[in-house]
Amino acid sequence: MRYLIGIDLGTSGTKTVLFDEDGNTLKSHTVEYPMHQPKNGWAEQDPEDWYNASVETLKAVTEGIDASQIAGIGISGQMHSLVLLDEDNEVIRPAILWCDGRTSKECEEITEKIGRERLIEITANPALTGFTASKILWVKNNEPENYARVRHILLAKDYVRFRLTGEYATDVSDASGMQLLDIANRSWSDEVLEKLDINKEYLAKVYESAEVTGYVTAEASRLTGVPEGTPVAGGAGDNAAAAVGTGVVEDGKAFTTIGTSGVVFAHTKEMHIDPKGRVHTFCCAVPGEWHVMGVTLAAGLSLKWFRDNFCKDEIAVAETMGVDPYYIMDKEAERSPIGCNRLLYMPYLMAERTPHLDPNCRGGFVGLSAVHGKSDMIRAVMEGVVYSLRDCCEVLREMGVTSEDMAACGGGGSSPLWRSMLADTFNMKVKTVTSKEGPALGAAILAGVCAGVYPSVQEACRRVVRTKTEQLPDTANNEEYEKYYNIYRELYPALRDIYIDLANI
Ligand code: XUL
Repeated sequence: MRYLIGIDLGTSGTKTVLFDEDGNTLKSHTVEYPMHQPKNGWAEQDPEDWYNASVETLKAVTEGIDASQIAGIGISGQMHSLVLLDEDNEVIRPAILWCDGRTSKECEEITEKIGRERLIEITANPALTGFTASKILWVKNNEPENYARVRHILLAKDYVRFRLTGEYATDVSDASGMQLLDIANRSWSDEVLEKLDINKEYLAKVYESAEVTGYVTAEASRLTGVPEGTPVAGGAGDNAAAAVGTGVVEDGKAFTTIGTSGVVFAHTKEMHIDPKGRVHTFCCAVPGEWHVMGVTLAAGLSLKWFRDNFCKDEIAVAETMGVDPYYIMDKEAERSPIGCNRLLYMPYLMAERTPHLDPNCRGGFVGLSAVHGKSDMIRAVMEGVVYSLRDCCEVLREMGVTSEDMAACGGGGSSPLWRSMLADTFNMKVKTVTSKEGPALGAAILAGVCAGVYPSVQEACRRVVRTKTEQLPDTANNEEYEKYYNIYRELYPALRDIYIDLANI
């Protein structure tokens, strides 16, 4: 039996999974690491934590197996996060993450230098604080001594790839989120690079997701137990990889994920762009095709924030019961009705992309009363995240990108309550697939295609991805959610100026 390995380099931790050729999970290991917030709106991580977690998890899943049967490795990673290396390949400063909003000024600079229309024509997206280009300019503008040392610019998963293979490589889906790629042509844009004065030599070589980008080195083999010479596939940004892992590889298919961020992702054979830039258009992991996706920055992060700050009791109870604290929180939320006794939550803890594109906005509870207890607040957080994802669906619908086939994945996808909220609020059937491993499975499938185990990404998905459950919408619940969603939609416009005032203090 041949094995495939998928590494999912997330924001809360790295999970590495060993699969068989049919996509069954044989072994899985996760190592967590912190996210640092040196200032309100900033988010950083240490790339060394990612590498150490990758080594430790690879070692854990290869222990005791016949490693000569590993056909390939695929890596999926948090997108946009900037890693800068000097001439000795040393990391110059902490990585600036996808959910870091410090680069408003640099976004203005990008728009000014390239022109909004031309920028969208080439990169398919307006300048966004989350994307990598503005982060590069921020370092250039604010830390010139660091910028002077830069010789290589990599994304999170590509840094780990570099440590495993010695190659500076990336894939089209992740490269799309740097805002330096010509999205239609799937290659770096000389025009954007010249106008922003970024040296093309610093960038990694771009591959399609299922191409071989390099081979595990002797040193990496010694540390991880993966044989030297094992091929490493291009892999994909976490969302494009999750699409493969849930079978969203053709038109009409979509998924929504609730991980640290939340995403509604639809596959598109042709390129579709939202002229207002509220959702992203990127190359996907299927060669020559694209996807559009809306992003909620603090989805699972909202519930994690609530858990860490207000649910010490739930964490203790979960420990004695040997279950996940989120299971206890789910049960608590179920005790509150739809609408949480008239309580709304805005999930803008890390500002927001879809649909507001506003680095200043912040979260909040609205309607809080002395009648409310923790169960209402937990449920309000969950509902607020779902309303934000519904905002993403509305933009896709406006663009004519529709789907009747919606899968749910990510940590949130495994919560029955969250899944029923998604089905009732989107008013459509929401399914889950048998494998819970979304991005890791997607990355492993891409490794399988690159190693010749599968003939194509679509063929692999047909063989490996199977539907597990289907959650049907409930009309009465939908009508109830609709009342709250309509009020939720009015909150942001009403508060926009307040957020600016707060940011200016
Ligand atoms: C996508 C995005 C997030 C990260 C999270 O544009 O910023 O979904 O990829 O890992």
